[in-house]
This record gives sequence, C-alpha cells and structure tokens, in this order.
Amino acid sequence: MENADKRVVLTGFMGVGKSTVARHLAQIMNCKRLDLDYFIEGKEGKKIAELFECVGEKEFRKIETVWLKKLLDDSSVKIVSLGGGAWMSKENREVIKNQDCICVWLSSTFEHCWRNIRLSSRKRPLAKNKRQARKLFEEREKIYCLADWHFVIRPDFTSYDVAKNIAEQIFQWEVC
Ligand code: S3P
Repeated sequence: MENADKRVVLTGFMGVGKSTVARHLAQIMNCKRLDLDYFIEGKEGKKIAELFECVGEKEFRKIETVWLKKLLDDSSVKIVSLGGGAWMSKENREVIKNQDCICVWLSSTFEHCWRNIRLSSRKRPLAKNKRQARKLFEEREKIYCLADWHFVIRPDFTSYDVAKNIAEQIFQWEVC
C-alpha cells in the first residue's frame, strides 16, 4: 500500500473545516493528530489573533514555520491540520514534502467557508470582512492546488464523510 506509512497534512482556506476533518480522520485511523494553530497557541501562550496583533503577520509566519518543523519532527503525529496560510510558504511546503507527508487540499465554495468563519468564535485576523476574505480565497487557489491531493467538499458531505473518504481513497481503509 503506497501511502500506508505516510502522514497527512490538511490544508485549505479558513473555515473549510480542516480541524474537524482531522479530528474525525484521527478517530477513524486511530492515530495521533495535532492542529498547528492550537500547537502554536500552546507553545507561545497566546491566541493566534493576539500573536498577529503583537508581532504582525510577517513575524507570525516565521513563528509558524518554526513550530511546524518542531511538530513534524515528532513522528508519532500522523495527522496535522494547518492554519489556512501555512501552505502559502515555499519553505513550509518543502518541510512538509521532506517529512514524507501527503498534503490534502480541502476545498469548498467561498460562501461555505465564509459562513463557517462568521459562525466561529475564533478570531481570524485575515478575514475581518467578506471582501478581504474573498480576495485571499481567490489569490490562494493557485498555491493550494500544489497539494498532492485535492478533495472537493460536496455540500451534502459532513466532516465525517470527508474524513471517511480520505481514509478510503488515500489509505484504502475500509470504513464501515
Ligand atoms: C490564517 C488562518 C488561520 C490562522 C491565522 C491565519 C490564514 O487558521 O492560522 O489566522 O492566513 O489563512 P484557520 O485556517 O484554521 O482559520
């Protein structure tokens, strides 16, 4: 089985559901997962929005790369959900590739992502309004598509369905 020993990194736009899909996938495959943003928050002792406020985006990206490397150095972590901007960095993409990970781009419509952004209690400094978020969404497509897999979330899919499909299609798991 070609992908059996690989790890999975989930990328995609804010609000697409990376963390929830990662949680279901870890349950299905009975393995350890981490969310990069929560990992950073734990290590830095600050919420992502506070970090943005304190150090700005450029510095945040450097911090993000440091912790991504550390997180992936732990080979017991099999599933990682990234923050939506982490995959934009060439350095991060190379780190992910060199760590023998499969990167899956979860995509959905902008409206779907925006609805989730609005409903969430999490502050997203780069999605303060719909116009700003839509612009980023459009700009980032061409980088997200550098991922190894592209999984389009159908409107009738739950997060569990998405995880189940990833387990079946990438790892040939038989999920009942
Ligand atoms: C960001 C996405 C966020 C978080 C930060 C920046 C981005 O994560 O890392 O606010 O640049 O798209 P989510 O994708 O989990 O919202």
